[in-house]
Amino acid sequence: MFIPKLKRPLLGVIATFMVLATTHRGSAEPLSPMEELGKALFHDATLSNPPGQSCASCHDAALAFTGNSGSPIAAIATGSTPDKFGNRNVPTLKYMAFSPPFSFVGEKNDKGETEYTPTGGLFFDGRADNLIDQVHGPLLNVNEMADTDNAMITSKLRSSPSLQAYKTVFGEDLSKDDAATVQNIAIAIAAFESTSTFAPFSSKFDSYLQGKAEFTALEAKGFELFKDPEKGNCLGCHVGTVDSKNPKDWLFTDFTYDNLGVPRNPAIPANAKASYFDEGLCQREGLQKILPEGVELSSFCGAFKVPTLRNIAVTAPYFHNGAITNLRDTVAFYVTRDTNPELWYPKSADGKVLKLNDTTPAAIANVNTGEVPYDRKPGETPRLSEDEIDAVVAFLKTLTDTAP
Ligand code: HEC
Ligand code: HEC
Repeated sequence: MFIPKLKRPLLGVIATFMVLATTHRGSAEPLSPMEELGKALFHDATLSNPPGQSCASCHDAALAFTGNSGSPIAAIATGSTPDKFGNRNVPTLKYMAFSPPFSFVGEKNDKGETEYTPTGGLFFDGRADNLIDQVHGPLLNVNEMADTDNAMITSKLRSSPSLQAYKTVFGEDLSKDDAATVQNIAIAIAAFESTSTFAPFSSKFDSYLQGKAEFTALEAKGFELFKDPEKGNCLGCHVGTVDSKNPKDWLFTDFTYDNLGVPRNPAIPANAKASYFDEGLCQREGLQKILPEGVELSSFCGAFKVPTLRNIAVTAPYFHNGAITNLRDTVAFYVTRDTNPELWYPKSADGKVLKLNDTTPAAIANVNTGEVPYDRKPGETPRLSEDEIDAVVAFLKTLTDTAP
């Protein structure tokens, strides 16, 4: 059974959030005091335990707010102590203010039954509803900034370089309620993450949409293949509104979830244990409690959020586990996973290809094998030829924002 994401009609829902999504002013406009505070806190390396790590250590503006805090493992950042590692690749923070909160979006299918599509939320498993809620995660995560509680964060704030800006925005008193102080920190960081720094819409693609730039022949071919439902079909999940010239209608994600059967990344420390699997959405805390009736939790095992493809050329490595290190291979994986699995998965001692080696046996049925471009079998022609893969990659490179 596939993740019931079959219909992708959520543009209306997403458009609503796009309108709500905060301040989008010209990049020349100065930040408000709240946004300035958020910027200071985002870069404030005195708030971690021990000090030395800020949000920016893992979310570097020069890499579209990805990075790894100087980790020896490309895909996995170190925490504030160098022997701590998480288990997921650091995602871009660009355009994340447009993400709707997590919900199951219900839609009637042809038989009149309601199908539910998990949609929205931050993190690869959607566990934070919005940017404000999200900030509490890294501050208190032992593998990240590792503060033990809100009192520790507040006490660090008292001697931090951000203190003056905090007082300007929230007033003098930060002694009474540590939870309220940390919530204020979260509000300020989220305000900064909602500024045009994180959503400049300044790529060649944006200029092309507005008639201010032309695609090369290769980029134009790539864009057609990206949209073509019989070729890349990338637009099926990395959505954009085909008849719109408004950059905000082209976020290259519908914020839904899917199971791609990505190869295991042996460089992730947690993966040293053969029985360990990162199963994404179905392991999300509390999901069982909010499941619509008749929906099986297990159907979401192995599903991860569809990321935006904006700035994809500068955010290597790829996928939730960083298993694939370059963009061309990432595109090639889609079209040859099933025709040539030996390209992507390791072999056992007796030479058998260990296909879907990061998927539990129970979740293999969840891997998307029905939708273009994954719908091929060994011996069939991949949906994209080598030249066509190059064209899609050339198109994806037009999605990189230019420096302000
Ligand atoms: C040690 C590295 C590290 C630090 C420090 C860090 N993050 Fe992250 N961030 C990550 C990783 C890894 C993920 C993905 C985790 C997951 O999906 O479970 C993530 C996810 C996010 C997301 C969700 C993006 C999405 O696509 O859903 C946001 C927003 C975010 N971080 C903001 C912050 C903020 C704000 C701070 C500072 C308070 C911060 N991060 C500090 C590594 C880090
Ligand atoms: C059925 C939905 C679906 C389709 C169709 C699809 N993708 Fe994806 N894409 C995803 C999901 C889900 C992920 C994240 C998977 C993961 O991390 O395990 C992803 C991840 C990616 C990534 C890595 C992003 C990152 O930040 O690491 C790239 C690049 C990408 N897709 C490109 C494409 C291209 C090119 C096509 C068309 C050939 C395509 N996708 C078609 C759902 C889809």
